[in-house]
Order: sequence, then C-alpha cells, then structure tokens
Amino acid sequence: MKQTIFFFLLLFSFMSCEKKPPINIYDTDEFKNLSKKDIIIGESVWVTTCFRCHTYGNMGAASIYDKEPIDKLAAKGFDELYKSVTNGMTGQNGVMPPKGSCYSCSENEIEKSIYYIFHLAKNIQESEKQTNEDGEL
Ligand code: HEC
Repeated sequence: MKQTIFFFLLLFSFMSCEKKPPINIYDTDEFKNLSKKDIIIGESVWVTTCFRCHTYGNMGAASIYDKEPIDKLAAKGFDELYKSVTNGMTGQNGVMPPKGSCYSCSENEIEKSIYYIFHLAKNIQESEKQTNEDGEL
C-alpha cells in the first residue's frame, strides 16, 4: 500500500513538472540581469549569423522590428527556444539551420545570443515607439 501511494506521489510530481507553464523571456531573472559581458557575447554571435535572418525577417524568420511575433516567441520561454535554435527548426514560415548556423558556437554563446535577440528587439521597439510619440520619422 505504501508503495502504491509513493508511486502515485511520484507520478503526480512528474505530471506537475510537465504542466509548468513556460516563463516569458522578458520576465526571467536572466533577461533582467543581463550583464555587459552577456550582451557582448550575445551580440558577437548576433553579428556573425543571427542578424542575417532576424533583422528584417529574411528566410521566414521573425524580425526584431515586429513586436507581435517576437512577443509570441518570448512567451514560449527560454527552454523551448534554446532547443529550437540548437537543433535547428523547420517552422511554418521557414527553416533555421542548427545553432542558427553558428556551428562553432558554444552552448553559452547560443544561450546569450537568444537573450540578446530579445534585448535588441525590446530596445529597438522602445526607441521606435519614442520616435513615433515625438512625431518624427
Ligand atoms: C538562415 C536564417 C536564420 C538564421 C541565420 C537564424 N535563424 Fe532563427 N529562425 C529562422 C527561421 C526560419 C525560424 C523559424 C520561423 C518559423 O517559425 O517558421 C527561426 C526561429 C528562431 C527562434 C524561435 C524558435 C521557436 O521555437 O519558435 C529563435 C529564438 C531564433 N530563431 C533565434 C536565432 C538565433 C539566436 C540565431 C543565431 C544564433 C538564429 N536564430 C539564426 C531563421 C534563421
């Protein structure tokens, strides 16, 4: 009997693990506490590969200028995004090669490049909003 209870407890704890909703990237401590060094690492990967598709949305990638698609990605949470970038992804709009084609990148570099995309997207979107409010182009 004890074993059965233990089994169910174990099962429930696994189930609750799986149901944990992802944390929006923008709400994570990692994003909020990005250091200068993290940003430099992320940026160096960005300028090597990611920018080619994710600046203006080439090859079906989400563009950092488009708030809505980027917000949707942010809501998927880091773990899923990290998996997609590391393994590559065939999405509805296009194909991303494994590691975003930064084949020599380390896990840490890929991780920082993902946070960097959201860091950059947020800065760009905020500065555009500011410009629009000022009534300038
Ligand atoms: C050759 C173009 C290309 C390059 C280079 C590229 N991506 Fe992508 N990326 C894509 C495409 C295409 C998708 C999927 C679009 C879709 O949903 O159909 C994508 C999706 C993503 C996603 C969302 C994953 C998900 O689960 O929805 C993230 C995050 C991302 N890329 C980050 C990066 C990072 C970081 C780099 C650089 C290390 C990078 N990309 C380089 C084309 C690219």
